[in-house]
Amino acid sequence: MNILTQKAGLKQFLDKLRAEGKTIGFVPTMGALHAGHISLINIAQQQCDVVVCSIFVNPTQFNDKKDLERYPRTLEKDTELLVKANCDFLFYPEIEEMYPEEDKRTFDFGFLDKTLDGAFRPGHFNGVGQIVSKLFDAVEPDKAFFGEKDFQQVLVIKEMVSQLNYKLEIVSCPILREKDGLAMSSRNTLLNEAERTAASLIPILMNAAKEDFVSGASTENIKLKLTAKINAEPLFKLDYFEIRNTSDLNEFDASTDKEAVILIAVFCGRIRLIDNLVVKTI
Ligand code: PAF
Repeated sequence: MNILTQKAGLKQFLDKLRAEGKTIGFVPTMGALHAGHISLINIAQQQCDVVVCSIFVNPTQFNDKKDLERYPRTLEKDTELLVKANCDFLFYPEIEEMYPEEDKRTFDFGFLDKTLDGAFRPGHFNGVGQIVSKLFDAVEPDKAFFGEKDFQQVLVIKEMVSQLNYKLEIVSCPILREKDGLAMSSRNTLLNEAERTAASLIPILMNAAKEDFVSGASTENIKLKLTAKINAEPLFKLDYFEIRNTSDLNEFDASTDKEAVILIAVFCGRIRLIDNLVVKTI
């Protein structure tokens, strides 16, 4: 695997491969890689000739400084996992390489940036837009692969791709889960034992909510039931639990929407976890 820290060096390699007619798949990450990330690499390998993974903990998407400080950084282990997965390139830039000067761009993602994580983490999606566009400019991929755990992020990135007219395809890939159903996340490693035990309730409650939804319970009742259960666990603090449509995250409307997504963001101790379940309604 080639490891590069400079955009120019990466471009040289990738331009040569493009000239040979090779397609480039790109998996942007913030490191602390787990099986979920490796599944993105594997899907990218099935669909593209060459796969680039980036690791960059992007400061502009952290609205909480403490969250940025404690974000896990495990480069050595990440590199081993990528080598084992036969990833072709790791792009691992320093801050100055990605932000030689302050990025003052502000995106208008409309409602997508005003609801759910957009509302609870002000500026987060603008930061995601800034770094992902910079990474797309550096890699110029044919396809970029993102995990569906960050459901709202995938919609925001698709919107950015359309606004900035990037000629690439966004591929959204299924959530990978731990044995007990907890959605895989780099943040899971930050949970202590008690928090990790409590966190295993999240998929149980989400699946119960899904069952209630499928059996026709009202959104309001589902929310009341789940909120009561979350509040009963002293380690939890709920940011949001919502049932939305999958296209623009507006309230789910059974008369028009074919798919719903049940989304949750909850603090487990100091660690904020998110999860979602997509439900086909017809
Ligand atoms: O999902 C992530 O890990 C990050 O938000 C991303 C897309 C790599 C941008 O920093």
